[in-house]
Amino acid sequence: MRVAVTGGGGFLGSHLCEALLRRGDSVVCLDNFSTGDPENIAHLLSDPAFEFHHADVSVSVEVAGRVDAVAHLASPASPPDYLRQPLETLAVGSRGTENALRLALRHDARFILASTSEIYGDPLVHPQEEAYWGNVNSIGPRSVYDEAKRYAEAVSAAYRRTHGVDVGIARIFNTYGPRMRPHDGRVVSSFITQALTGEPLTVYGDGTQTRSFCYVDDLVRGLLALLDSSELGPFNLGNPVERTVTELAEIVLEMTGSASEVKYHPLPVDDPVRRRPVITRARDVLGWEPETDITEGLRRTVAYFASEPERLGASAAAIRGGQDETVPLAAATAPAAPSQTIPAPATAATGVATGSPASGG
Ligand SMILES: NC(=O)c1ccc[n+]([C@@H]2O[C@H](COP(=O)([O-])OP(=O)(O)OC[C@H]3O[C@@H](n4cnc5c(N)ncnc54)[C@H](O)[C@@H]3O)[C@@H](O)[C@H]2O)c1
Repeated sequence: MRVAVTGGGGFLGSHLCEALLRRGDSVVCLDNFSTGDPENIAHLLSDPAFEFHHADVSVSVEVAGRVDAVAHLASPASPPDYLRQPLETLAVGSRGTENALRLALRHDARFILASTSEIYGDPLVHPQEEAYWGNVNSIGPRSVYDEAKRYAEAVSAAYRRTHGVDVGIARIFNTYGPRMRPHDGRVVSSFITQALTGEPLTVYGDGTQTRSFCYVDDLVRGLLALLDSSELGPFNLGNPVERTVTELAEIVLEMTGSASEVKYHPLPVDDPVRRRPVITRARDVLGWEPETDITEGLRRTVAYFASEPERLGASAAAIRGGQDETVPLAAATAPAAPSQTIPAPATAATGVATGSPASGG
C-alpha cells in the first residue's frame, strides 16, 4: 500500500510513517515543518520506500503516482503552537483537509483524519463517548483549533456522503512519547523537561483537573487499525485511565529522582477540567485498546528527553515560569523553506524558537 501522510514530520506523524514502513507499506510524507522537525524523519530518508515532500497542505496536496490511502495529520497540535499560528491552524483544518480529501477522491483512496478530543471542548458529560456533541466556545482563544477540527470532521463526513470517499475519523486524546518537543507546552513534555533540569513543575489550576495519557505506540496501532478498516467512526483513541495533573507531576518527579518543587498557576481560559475517552467503539469495531501503562511509557519518554541534554536546557529556559497557554505568543516560527527538496536534517530550521520565554514551540 502507498500511503500519503500529511504532517508526517511531526511527533505522531513520524511514528506513523515508521510503523507503515515497518509493515512493508510505502510512504509519501508531506510537511512544511511549521511545528514538526526534520530530525523526526532524518533516519527514514535513506529508505527507498520513503519519500518526502516539503509542502504546505493548506495550499495544495499533490502526489505523483498511485495513492492507496491518505492519513491527514497536518495541523499545529499543542496550545502554544495553535495560539501562535491561529490563522494557519484554521487554514490547515479547513483548506488543508479539503485538499487532502480531494487527493483521496482522485485516487479512490482510504482517508483518515487525525481529529481530537478537543472537539468535545469543556465537556458537560464525563467520560466522553463519540455520541457526545461537545461544548465548545466558538470565539475563545482555543476555538482556532477546536473549530478547525470540528470543520475537518464535518467536511470529511460530507465527502463520504457526497463523493463516497472512504473516510475514517480518529478523535485522538492526549498522547505522549519520544519526539515530543520539550517545550511544546503539553503537560507531559513540560513536566519531564522541568524535572530533568531542576526547574519547578508548572501546574495550572489546583492540579485536580484530569487527563488521560496514551503512549504513542498504542495510538499509532489505533491509527493503523482505522486505516485498515473502512469504518467512518468517529473513534475515540486514547487511554481511558484518568489521572490528575498532580498525580502525573508526582510520577514524573519520582521517576526522574528530581528535587524540583511544584508551582501552581491560574487555569487558562477554556482549559477543559476533565477528559477521559470511552473507547468501547474502538475496542468493539477496531479491536483496539492501549497496552502500555503510564510507568513504562514515561520511562521511555524520560529516556528520550534525557538523551538530548542541550535541547532540554534551552527548552527549560523557554518554559521557565510557566507557559501561559492563553496568551498569543510573540515569538515567530522561522519561515519554512519554499522548495520541495529534502532539508538536510542536521542544519534545517526546526521551526522552533527556543530563546524567548514566551515561545511555546
Ligand atoms: N499529540 C496529541 O496528543 C494529539 C491529540 C489530539 C490530536 N492530535 C492530532 O494529531 C495530529 C498530529 O499531532 P502531533 O502531536 O504530531 O503534532 P505536531 O505538531 O508534532 O505535528 C503536526 C505536523 O503537521 C505539520 N503541519 C502543520 N501545518 C502544516 C501545513 N499547513 N502543511 C504541511 N504540514 C503542516 C507540522 O509541521 C508538524 O510536523 C494533529 O492533527 C493533531 O491535531 C494530536
